[in-house]
Amino acid sequence: MKRAFALEPFSRDHNDGLHLARALREERPDAPALARAAWERELSDHFAEEERLLGPLAGGDSARLYEEHRQIEQLISELPTSCVALGQALEDHIRWEERVLFPAIESRMTPDQEATLAQEALKMEHRRWEICPNRAEIVQRRLDRLHPGA
Ligand SMILES: [Fe+2]
Ligand SMILES: [Fe+2]
Repeated sequence: MKRAFALEPFSRDHNDGLHLARALREERPDAPALARAAWERELSDHFAEEERLLGPLAGGDSARLYEEHRQIEQLISELPTSCVALGQALEDHIRWEERVLFPAIESRMTPDQEATLAQEALKMEHRRWEICPNRAEIVQRRLDRLHPGA
């Protein structure tokens, strides 16, 4: 199923997260430093926004959302020894969100909730453009597909 527009900024972050998870699982020498930098730049904001915006929409899945965030945060603090475990935990968490949590939220949220979420998620998306300029292009292409000829 196609991702709801309001959740797309989170899914774009997940693309970056999966690349990082792979570097960690493969124990690439620069992976711990990349993970620490990603935490400062993007991951901590991503977790906070998921908890703030998606937590209230997550129903019974919210406990797992918070719990896995705390586990990942803990593993980041234990780098570099936690490198492989962190990579696995991050990948599993992202896959769960994409396959279980996000579809559940998409099926549950009302049009009003979706509109509010879209606005708030777009603010997060704009913050990413400062650190990752090519995301602006990705979003523009996506908008062009949604509103051809606009
Ligand atoms: Fe998450
Ligand atoms: Fe996420």
